[in-house]
Amino acid sequence: MYLTDKEKKMLNGDFGEIVQKNMKVLVALGEIYGAEKMIEIKNVHSPGVSYRVTGDAGLNYVKEASINGYFITPVTLNTIGIDVEDWEKIGFPADFSQKQVELVDAYKKMGAFCTNTCTPYLVGNLPRFGEHIAWGESSAIVFANSVIGARTNREGGPSALAAAITGRVPAYGYHLDENRKGTHLVEVEIALESDCDYAALGYYIGQKVGKRVPVFRGIKNPTIDNLKALGAALASSGAVALYHIENVTPEALKENVLEDNYEILVFAQEEFNQVSEKFSIKGKVDIVVVGCPHCSIEEMKKISELLSGKKLKSDMWVCTSRQIKVLSDTMGYTEIIEKSGAEIICDTCPVLSPTLDRGYKQVVTNSGKLAHYMPGLWDVKTALIQLEDCIQAGIDGE
Ligand code: F3S
Repeated sequence: MYLTDKEKKMLNGDFGEIVQKNMKVLVALGEIYGAEKMIEIKNVHSPGVSYRVTGDAGLNYVKEASINGYFITPVTLNTIGIDVEDWEKIGFPADFSQKQVELVDAYKKMGAFCTNTCTPYLVGNLPRFGEHIAWGESSAIVFANSVIGARTNREGGPSALAAAITGRVPAYGYHLDENRKGTHLVEVEIALESDCDYAALGYYIGQKVGKRVPVFRGIKNPTIDNLKALGAALASSGAVALYHIENVTPEALKENVLEDNYEILVFAQEEFNQVSEKFSIKGKVDIVVVGCPHCSIEEMKKISELLSGKKLKSDMWVCTSRQIKVLSDTMGYTEIIEKSGAEIICDTCPVLSPTLDRGYKQVVTNSGKLAHYMPGLWDVKTALIQLEDCIQAGIDGE
């Protein structure tokens, strides 16, 4: 693998032990994936910041790095395991919360911005088209690659940390033109209207394509929220890190992005119904969960309008970043939402926080990612329905 003089010095320990250790991690990764060189990156979005995921081994790894290590690129932090301000009120255990705070503090000491969200692109970490970055969190990765046209592999906690300390990643995978071509053409034959429709499409196609690259045809004028719902679902049922939409996403605006030997898939009413039937419940709704990925300010506005003057019979979590919550406070949305009985949860989500023992059995959500993961993590059944129906179900309690 070719290394510049500076990279060789990093590897030889001229910049200190911690830089050397992390350069070794990247060189080893590069050798596994056949990278010919390193690429300088513009920023990092770090996963591996929930104590639920890292445990003590991860916590100790990061704390050790933070003794002498510091980040040389901007770094934002992904969703963590607690709401930093309200963990006690929500009922997260004190020992877990203490460890979680230690983990975030170690990242902060190295220079990270404690954004604690899976939507860094909504709160200030917005790369430019074509920039090389090192991001973790599957829903954020797929958004960065597909909607923005930045370039990142699926980084884990250690590789993102190494990238932040060295400012580099090995040149392989989605950093290279040849791996960004579409492998499947997906003919979308029904009109998609809600985030839930996009999530259903993502869920169905993610299962079919695994970690390959779908190109959608027939989608018109999606919103940013539609696209984040689509990507999150694609990355959950499959491991999609990049998709294109003809005439919509930047790499598919003018050019054909399909490989020569692509496969064809169809998403029509029948395929949509398969997803709806899989995620469907009847009877009592214990909790409504929205905000996976974390809610945008537009979503907070819509939720407040739907809840205005209403009282919920079910519990409800609205997950968002603390930065969006501040704007929601200013706009008066928070007050309306909380008056209905819903809880606004910042910094975390049901997948990355400790499972609460509240006796929940049935959950409704508009997120394909939550519908997919919550049954395994919380031992519940999930329904995937659009936001308006989620809220009506919460009001009716069924
Ligand atoms: Fe974000 Fe948690 Fe969903 S990290 S994408 S809200 S599972």
